[in-house]
Amino acid sequence: MSTALSSAPIHSKPATQTAPAVRSCYDVLDLCRGCGITDFTDGKYADERNDRQAYLAAQRRQASYLLDQINCTAGSRMLDIGCGYGRILEAAAARGAEAIGITISPPQVANCRQRGLHIELCNYREILNDDQYADWRHAFDGIIANGSLEHFVQCEDAAAGRADDIYTEFFDVCHRLLKPGGKLATTAIHSRRVGQVNGGHLLDGPDRWPKGSVNYHAANLHRSFGGWLPEPGQLEHCAEGRFRLIAAEDGTRDYLRTSEYWMARIKRSLALNPASWPIAVRTFMRQPKATWHMLRCLLWDESWTFQFREPAPAQLWRHTWQAV
Ligand SMILES: C[S@@+](CC[C@H](N)C(=O)[O-])C[C@H]1O[C@@H](n2cnc3c(N)ncnc32)[C@H](O)[C@@H]1O
Repeated sequence: MSTALSSAPIHSKPATQTAPAVRSCYDVLDLCRGCGITDFTDGKYADERNDRQAYLAAQRRQASYLLDQINCTAGSRMLDIGCGYGRILEAAAARGAEAIGITISPPQVANCRQRGLHIELCNYREILNDDQYADWRHAFDGIIANGSLEHFVQCEDAAAGRADDIYTEFFDVCHRLLKPGGKLATTAIHSRRVGQVNGGHLLDGPDRWPKGSVNYHAANLHRSFGGWLPEPGQLEHCAEGRFRLIAAEDGTRDYLRTSEYWMARIKRSLALNPASWPIAVRTFMRQPKATWHMLRCLLWDESWTFQFREPAPAQLWRHTWQAV
């Protein structure tokens, strides 16, 4: 593992390719817009309600929490790594901050630009390689990575022992983009136990495993979303020398409620709301196999929600880090 802090550019390698499953997952998930869902992370719930109003309020509360964690106020400069459809960017702009988002998803870029948000189509691993972002170095007061970390390592990487290096590189990139002492807020689904899943076991798809087993669901998720979950303590270990963990909060129950709301809303919309059909049909025509796998994974096998149901094999951690 490379933890040494160096002033030399760390990206002397060829352009990093985004894993195909990660790209196609957000092409397919664009159909959620037709179902009234444009937020792709946990909300923060205040009570037991889980209707539309409670869902939207929980999403706003989570955005507000993350912005507070990085001390985002009028005049702050913040970067959202994996900004989705720009919920955090909008909330930051409402505080008077200068907010920039990056995503690897072209539909998200198109949608955010239409709404006047500053967003770039960019893999975070390329920022320091790309001259157009030269003035981003040590330019941000705060960075948020809200639900994007789970895509950074792939099962193939984990199986080959590259996970630590990739997380370490992520913290290094953030450190080089932040002003001294700047803050980083991350939310990431973690596996519950160290060694819970073997990356190499997930590469052949879910059907190799007993239906309903942890491996079945994990392989299903990997096939549709592309990615790998950090293990307990792994991020802390990989941040060493660059960031100090200053706050941690378990949001697993919140993520279960968000997921239950998502699934109910998608099912109801696709079954009953004709307004959701055109975008769903277009997505299916463009990516029939990936769309079929995604709908099976989310709605039939319920692999997404399975992660957070007791005894939950996954745990959502909200972490706040300070650059050292
Ligand atoms: C689960 S979504 C979360 C979106 C958003 N933060 C939200 O709260 O709705 C993950 C996001 O990470 C982005 N992403 C995944 N890998 C990325 C990478 N290597 N560089 C930049 N963005 C990435 C995806 O395009 C997507 O926007």
